[in-house]
Amino acid sequence: MGINATQLTVAVIGCGTLGTAIAAGILDPKDSEAFQINRLICTVGTEPSKTRLEAALSDHKSRITVSTADENVRAVQEADIVLLAFKPFKRADVFAVPGFKEALRDKFVLSIMAGITTAELSRLTFGEDYDSNSQSSLQAVRAMPNMAARIREAVTLYTPSPATTKENVELASWVFGQVGEAHQIPEKSFDICAVLVGCAGSLLLLAIDGLLDAAVAEGVRRPEVQNLVVNSAIGMMKLVPAGDHPSVLREKIASPGGCSIRALLELEKLGVRSAFTTAILAAAEKSKQMSSTR
Ligand SMILES: NC(=O)c1ccc[n+]([C@@H]2O[C@H](COP(=O)([O-])OP(=O)(O)OC[C@H]3O[C@@H](n4cnc5c(N)ncnc54)[C@H](OP(=O)(O)O)[C@@H]3O)[C@@H](O)[C@H]2O)c1
Repeated sequence: MGINATQLTVAVIGCGTLGTAIAAGILDPKDSEAFQINRLICTVGTEPSKTRLEAALSDHKSRITVSTADENVRAVQEADIVLLAFKPFKRADVFAVPGFKEALRDKFVLSIMAGITTAELSRLTFGEDYDSNSQSSLQAVRAMPNMAARIREAVTLYTPSPATTKENVELASWVFGQVGEAHQIPEKSFDICAVLVGCAGSLLLLAIDGLLDAAVAEGVRRPEVQNLVVNSAIGMMKLVPAGDHPSVLREKIASPGGCSIRALLELEKLGVRSAFTTAILAAAEKSKQMSSTR
């Protein structure tokens, strides 16, 4: 434990699936040299979620306070850092509560809301006439983690608002680093890169589901092969960061006259490769539009 580590009070507003994963990660950090969590205040929408969250974070009972949405303002007031982890469509309601924006203004804000830019976060906090060049710009980091945060294997991309200090960027990197890898990227490439880490997993899971259907069609029960298929896919994927280009690897697997080439040709005939490209481009387009749809 770092004796000189900065002690932080963090509020997680909208502590659902991802909020809980990040909360659990920072409460039990892999790296506690620079920062430690003194207190964590979490809010959720409903009583059943509050009960779920108290159970999920019960190992850290002495450091956590769990409340429902009526305590959002107080949670922000008491925190040094605020993580906004509710769904993007809820933002107008959350920010409309008297005192919320005012409480947020001098905090360091982290947001994982898909599609919401740091400029939109400043607009929500300071109102329509905020000037991105003036002091009324928020210390904020927009981030896109993914569900693997639950097992501390997320890849999180983040981008800071222009006003954010170097120290706060380091703090954001620390927060997301506790649930996997964290990488800073420019805001202009955020939408496409964010959907690649945030949504592409669901596309690959659809592919796994389709593969398992083939086993079922041939009379093999899904649970018998599910882990075999998933683990073999994970093993193959690990060859890519080890240095093999995906196309080269695919060519190496598909031997002349073999089974793989037959399967790959079927997929090409069905337009699967361009279907993946089109799907991700649609997701990136949706991400671009989200800050402007209120
Ligand atoms: N899911 C992903 O894979 C993924 C990936 C990247 C980014 N994101 C982003 O991460 C955020 C969270 O996603 P998630 O999947 O974790 O969603 P989630 O599980 O639905 O969590 C949202 C939480 O917000 C709570 N909430 C609702 N209204 C609230 C209010 N007024 N005040 C305080 N809390 C409130 C909900 O409580 P109740 O359920 O009790 O209403 C719930 O606990 C979203 O903005 C999403 O865009 C998600």
